[in-house]
Amino acid sequence: MKPLQLLFQSSIGKKVIMGATGALLFLFVIGHLVGNLQIFLPKERINAYGHLLHANVGLLWCVRLGLLAIVGLHVWSAVTLNAQNKSARPEVYAGAQGPYGASWASRYMFMTGLVIAAFVVYHLLHFTLQAPAVNLLPANHEAKDFTQLVVTSGPQQGYRDVHRMLVAGFQQPLVTLFYLVAIGLLCIHLSHGSQAMFQSLGVQEGVWRRRLDAGSKVLAGLIFAGYAIIPLAVFLRLVQ
Ligand code: HEM
Repeated sequence: MKPLQLLFQSSIGKKVIMGATGALLFLFVIGHLVGNLQIFLPKERINAYGHLLHANVGLLWCVRLGLLAIVGLHVWSAVTLNAQNKSARPEVYAGAQGPYGASWASRYMFMTGLVIAAFVVYHLLHFTLQAPAVNLLPANHEAKDFTQLVVTSGPQQGYRDVHRMLVAGFQQPLVTLFYLVAIGLLCIHLSHGSQAMFQSLGVQEGVWRRRLDAGSKVLAGLIFAGYAIIPLAVFLRLVQ
């Protein structure tokens, strides 16, 4: 088999694609968190960050298309590996349906993956496309929709006011709840996914396996705390 054929057709190659794309998405999640935590700094900071992201349209679209390709490969490898595993062993082994069985774990990763995909679609409509139908702003809100929240002075004048948009967005209980649930599932997915990746890399048992598993759980917990604190702080009016 040629190297590319091996990568895209063998199950080991698909596992490499799933692990590598998963690791890149993990890095994106950390980078995005660092950017968003600027909500706790003076409001000009997160607006300057939003401005920077939108100012270079060419680069923005390269990153977007790159992310889309990475997500596509991650989902494709997960779906085909899952189908391959099912056809290889149509009969579920005794115990595999238990709380820690292989089929339970892959079904679980699949279900959390689906909710994350639904969340990302909602999230893009909410903050990137600013679709009025999904912001759930009350009728008496100062803005009719997020497109009206624009910086009125300073270097970002005329650009979207990311700070006010996040504050308006997370004052809605249903929106905040959905974000918290989705972020929780994302972090469970990240933690299980990295443990599965270490297994595929051959780190099966022993002290290193235990350390890596514990490290994945701690990192996923920190990512959850970092993301969850943003909607919660706004909802509790700690950020205005
Ligand atoms: C509290 C949690 C989060 C907040 C406050 C937040 C905030 C934002 C904001 C403000 C934007 C729009 C930037 C702009 O266009 O001006 C954005 C875009 C985006 N977010 Fe998030 N985000 C959160 C969680 C997540 C998570 C968990 C993921 C991934 C699973 C994610 C993935 C994305 C993506 C893919 C974009 C589109 C970037 C682009 O414009 O191409 N976000 N986010």
